[in-house]
Amino acid sequence: TLPKVFVTRRVPPDGLEILRQSKQVQFEMWDSDDPVPRVELLNKVKGCDGILCVLTEKIDAQLLDAAGPNLKVLSTMSVGYDHLSLDELKKRGIRVGYTPDVLTDAVAELTVALLLATSRRLIEAAHEAKIGSWGTWRTMWLCGHELANSTVGIFGLGRIGVAIAERLKPFKVKKFIYTDVAPRPELANMIDAEYVSLDELAKESDFLAMCCALTPETHGICNWNLFSKMKKNAIFINTSRGGVVNQEDLYEALSTGLIAGAGLDVTTPEPLPTHHPLFTLKNCVILPHIASASYTTRNAMSALAANNLLAGLRGEAMPKELQL
Ligand code: GLV
Ligand code: GLV
Repeated sequence: TLPKVFVTRRVPPDGLEILRQSKQVQFEMWDSDDPVPRVELLNKVKGCDGILCVLTEKIDAQLLDAAGPNLKVLSTMSVGYDHLSLDELKKRGIRVGYTPDVLTDAVAELTVALLLATSRRLIEAAHEAKIGSWGTWRTMWLCGHELANSTVGIFGLGRIGVAIAERLKPFKVKKFIYTDVAPRPELANMIDAEYVSLDELAKESDFLAMCCALTPETHGICNWNLFSKMKKNAIFINTSRGGVVNQEDLYEALSTGLIAGAGLDVTTPEPLPTHHPLFTLKNCVILPHIASASYTTRNAMSALAANNLLAGLRGEAMPKELQL
């Protein structure tokens, strides 16, 4: 009999087609745009050889125990893997696939869009126009901060950070600086970026972009201590994971003018409740985790996730396997 697979969400057409055409698995899909309830999920994974999940599913010991000893492959349709208990997966010898690279362009593009929307106050400005506040052209009305001659700081220099810098360079950025656990000269050379300490990154950046993974080390690293070192004109951008930010501290920093603005594609929790204080701030642009949301990229992510799953179940090398 064919390996049994549970797909935890309605996946984009390309990935679904690959699973169907393969005739290699019998799969059941939670055919909804909303997450599968946890109780249902624990029940559905029982006896599965493979699971294809998205980032809203917490893959922990409880879930792996519910799946049982047949489970060999976990394929997540995401580049981030903070929703996976890697220790538990490793302990059980379960192989893990994820979707780096295919989303780099889309995420970099959205990050630049969010940066510009925040620094040039686009959402606020469009709102002012619509509600009738546009009395006349005014000399200092809705002024923002420009990229030309600025210093852009990147926290966590990976493929995405490089792709963001490549896109920002034509805006006449003066200097790129970055910090990471160690210098990454091969990537840094591509964008002429200088390695600095976190302290220097905070002090020198006019724009600070978070491009790191969420780990115990990066959890809450954007806190009062960091914001208080930043420039008053600084724009903070986060398209990584909400968990890297202490949101109470960010609220204080934005509402007291410690920094100029923040653009967030990720928050804690997601969705961020509509009554959250951050939503009351004009200098905070909040998007509902859409960085990879282009038709092309979401399809590519689903195809890669499907191919990772199938390769793993065949016992072959996955196109993109996470080394545990
Ligand atoms: C999106 O946040 C991803 O990890 O792919
Ligand atoms: C990080 O997630 C990267 O793709 O560089």
